[in-house]
Amino acid sequence: MKNIVVLISGRGSNFVSIAEAARRENWAAEGIEISCVISNRPGAAGLERAREMGIAAEVVDHKLYETRERFEDALMEIIDRHNPAVIVLAGFMRVLTDHFVSRYPGKILNIHPALLPLFKGLDTHARAIAAGVRVHGCTVHFVSPELDSGAIIGQAVVPVLPSDDPDTLAHRGLRLEHVLYPRAVHSVANGTVRLIDGRAVMDDLTALSLTLMDNHA
Ligand code: GRF
Repeated sequence: MKNIVVLISGRGSNFVSIAEAARRENWAAEGIEISCVISNRPGAAGLERAREMGIAAEVVDHKLYETRERFEDALMEIIDRHNPAVIVLAGFMRVLTDHFVSRYPGKILNIHPALLPLFKGLDTHARAIAAGVRVHGCTVHFVSPELDSGAIIGQAVVPVLPSDDPDTLAHRGLRLEHVLYPRAVHSVANGTVRLIDGRAVMDDLTALSLTLMDNHA
């Protein structure tokens, strides 16, 4: 079995899009399944969605640990029970240190709501509008110890309209996150995309399926 563990902190819409794609596309036939969702926040809405879908949902509350490393130890203890092929960060709002990241080389994915390497960090939509860029989007990448800097797997591009505010722009980008992230997770889980020497290696067709352009506002 190729298990997927998903880490969330909040509403979990990306997690749901991945779980729905897994069902619709019958990833189980390839031995791929989401075996667990873990939240660092007890009230995360995504936990309830996981339970509704029959997926194990756990909480590791970061507030109960004195250091990031101890928090990560608790996370790793649960994660390692699932021996995952892929660890998906889906709106997981804790920075992970090298202590965690180096344990799962080539297995941790993140989605960032901007076209990396632009706009690393928080408030990406407001910063994109302030910068006056005409295109924005999201990026799925392998996680490296440096924040928002790992090898890029796929990107989705949306227009920035003069009438946009951070919310409308976030909404437009999120629709494509929900298409891009399931594809990227599936591609890493089935071995079509791999991290080799710090780069995401894939064939041309896979790369095209992970490069999305939305021309519609
Ligand atoms: C998304 O915008 C994602 O890009 C960012 O956090 C948000 C998570 O949303 N990393 P959700 O919890 O998946 O709905």
